[in-house]
Amino acid sequence: MSDENGDAIVAKGLTKRYGAITAVDHVNFRVPSGSVFGLLGPNGAGKTTIIKVLTGLSDMTEGKARVAGYDVRKEPMHVKERIGWVAAEVILDDDLSGWENLWLQAKLQRLSGWTARAEQLLEYFELSDRRKDKVGKYSTGMRKKMEIALALLHQPSIIFMDEPTIGLDPNVRRMLWKLITGVNREFGVTVLLTSHYIEEADSLCDRVAIIDHGKFVATGTPSELKSRVRADFIELETKDEVSEERLRAVPGVSEVRSQGKAWILKVSSAEDVLPGLFAALKGDVIRRINVEKPSLESVFIDITGKRMDQAGGGDVQDFRKFYMQVRRARQ
Ligand SMILES: Nc1ncnc2c1ncn2[C@@H]1O[C@H](COP(=O)(O)OP(=O)(O)O)[C@@H](O)[C@H]1O
Ligand SMILES: [Mg+2]
Repeated sequence: MSDENGDAIVAKGLTKRYGAITAVDHVNFRVPSGSVFGLLGPNGAGKTTIIKVLTGLSDMTEGKARVAGYDVRKEPMHVKERIGWVAAEVILDDDLSGWENLWLQAKLQRLSGWTARAEQLLEYFELSDRRKDKVGKYSTGMRKKMEIALALLHQPSIIFMDEPTIGLDPNVRRMLWKLITGVNREFGVTVLLTSHYIEEADSLCDRVAIIDHGKFVATGTPSELKSRVRADFIELETKDEVSEERLRAVPGVSEVRSQGKAWILKVSSAEDVLPGLFAALKGDVIRRINVEKPSLESVFIDITGKRMDQAGGGDVQDFRKFYMQVRRARQ
């Protein structure tokens, strides 16, 4: 379901304040039906808050949003019926089997005639033969599949995924990428996901909004965004202090920014500039050097002057650890 013009989500001037903190600051965007849209940004940028506001879990302070053709503020129940949510926190009940988890989800959402859909989802996610096993015995990949199956049970037209692959090892992460693309294509579900992984947004999303401090700093397809930055970045950490002027004087360096102990140099082309840089610094001064070719990371560096992993605030990993502890304590 979508608006007249085929948008699954439309947000205008979306703003959320928590006391003095503006978590989401006058954000505007549209997500066409059937597409995958990514919110990419560091910890604390406001990604989860956008999902909370769009799903009606949290009230917006200002602005308007339509989701699945309904006004989030005026018709929240209609919105809830049309959307699914996969949270970063664990939502499965480990003491119940896969099938019982689906049953519980159906009860919670007061679904009738859900069993055929549940069978179809188990089949699709290749969980049919483990349906009677307790979810506590599932592998991480199977748990993720189960979480997505639960979110799809009531046949939503839009699914929200908050950091779907956080804390997963690379194999499971890639498996999940395939599943998310599959869910989008096979079930025709619009996907809005958040991530702080550059490659994830790049490979999964039709369009990406880069978010920092509650504001969208760039929006476009991954290739549009990458083509905006016609430069490489060299990240440089030195043993002894180096003056900014010395770095600026290296041919091909167009900008110099400091980032803690390190420097970030914007250069025409890393290959052309590196020899001059080594000559200017004498090799033994360099402790670490890293070249960033055009990527969504370099878009972020270009706009904010920081790497995405340097920009964040709180520690999301700890949050996940906390949930793991809660789960263990219950066993
Ligand atoms: N319930 C809350 N109360 C107060 N501040 C909050 C609350 N939830 C989030 N924030 C703050 O809002 C900002 C955005 O948080 P969040 O949306 O969780 O970011 P992200 O998901 O991108 O990591 C952060 O500064 C965070 O500390
Ligand atoms: Mg978050």
